[in-house]
Amino acid sequence: METRPITREDAALERALDLAARGTLAGGNPRVGCVLLAADGAVLAEGWHRGAGTAHAEAAALAAVAPQDRARLVGATAVVTLEPCHHTGRTPPCSRALHAAGVARVVHALDDPTPRAGGGAAWLREQGVDVVTAAEAGLRGELVTRARELLASWATAGLRGRPWLIGKTATTLDGRVAAPDATSRWITGPEARAHAHEVRGQVDAIVVGTGTVLADDPALTVRTPGGPAAPRQPVRVVVGERPVPAHARLRRGEGEWLHRPTHDLAAVLGELHARGMRHVLLEGGPTLLTAALRAGLVDELHAYVAPVLLGAGPGAVGDLGVTTIGQALRWRTTSIRRLGDDVLLTALRTREGKC
Ligand SMILES: NC(=O)c1ccc[n+]([C@@H]2O[C@H](COP(=O)([O-])OP(=O)(O)OC[C@H]3O[C@@H](n4cnc5c(N)ncnc54)[C@H](OP(=O)(O)O)[C@@H]3O)[C@@H](O)[C@H]2O)c1
Repeated sequence: METRPITREDAALERALDLAARGTLAGGNPRVGCVLLAADGAVLAEGWHRGAGTAHAEAAALAAVAPQDRARLVGATAVVTLEPCHHTGRTPPCSRALHAAGVARVVHALDDPTPRAGGGAAWLREQGVDVVTAAEAGLRGELVTRARELLASWATAGLRGRPWLIGKTATTLDGRVAAPDATSRWITGPEARAHAHEVRGQVDAIVVGTGTVLADDPALTVRTPGGPAAPRQPVRVVVGERPVPAHARLRRGEGEWLHRPTHDLAAVLGELHARGMRHVLLEGGPTLLTAALRAGLVDELHAYVAPVLLGAGPGAVGDLGVTTIGQALRWRTTSIRRLGDDVLLTALRTREGKC
């Protein structure tokens, strides 16, 4: 932890990161936050990106400047978690909007890695704007690390051609996902299930194998805390050769669903990526999760563990080809959270953890 005094730009970037985290993972756009500082260092306005098709963080912040403060944008500093974009997509380029407003300095935590949207910093510099990265501006290193963590899944998914895959398990203390008769409702309690619904609401798609559809007949929709369906539903994807029964609950209900009669999960993920999806939740069951782990497709684990013992029944994962402890797939814990009686452990794959 650095000990030098926190500057106004440090504080602005910290705030911009908090704002960015309010955004959604769904829809292929990065989560970005922006704080506008007047030349005297006062905060003029702030904004964040609420998802594809809506205003970018910089545009949202510019729009939030009070009419009596608009003149103070001349000579202002924009502190942004990601380099301002320089392309016209569903919204106009942020680089031009900042320049037109009179912003004189831009501090961004990270460069935009995408060839399509990048180039904003270079263009702004050509217009005479002072553009620096947070590192060049001497801002606190941990803020840049936070920015990188916030955007890692989006950047990784964008560059490598398949979505960031989150593998979810809900297990007993003895690592089982169902009883011997295949029943699994409910291993975890209401708080953990509500959290799992929140995560569903954040991703582009949910993937399950035919085994889970046949055993559990899940709807896989996102419910709001009060019970009704959330306005945005992820695409529900069933993978496996057996047909989805005509009476299956996922055929009814809100949102799109797809069945891909294949075992080639990588191809299915490639198809979802081509449709602009960047975050996908793999909700099981053990056969599909095992295949995904063996193929090195799982980027992040969400392991809900309940203080329940079954003593028999299928485990969260099957044979991973590990015969000795040195071959174990190892993960790095990123958070631990208590949800009622249950615990949620989230983890990222380590380099050695690659199958
Ligand atoms: N607690 C939890 O977190 C949780 C979550 C989900 C499920 N479950 C439980 O898990 C049980 C179902 O387990 P499951 O393993 O049968 O479910 P599953 O993994 O959802 O489905 C397995 C089926 O998916 C198909 N499949 C698709 N891609 C595959 C691939 N690459 N390799 C192998 N198979 C592939 C195969 O079916 P085809 O023959 O049709 O091709 C396979 O039999 C149920 O008891 C359910 O309650 C628990």
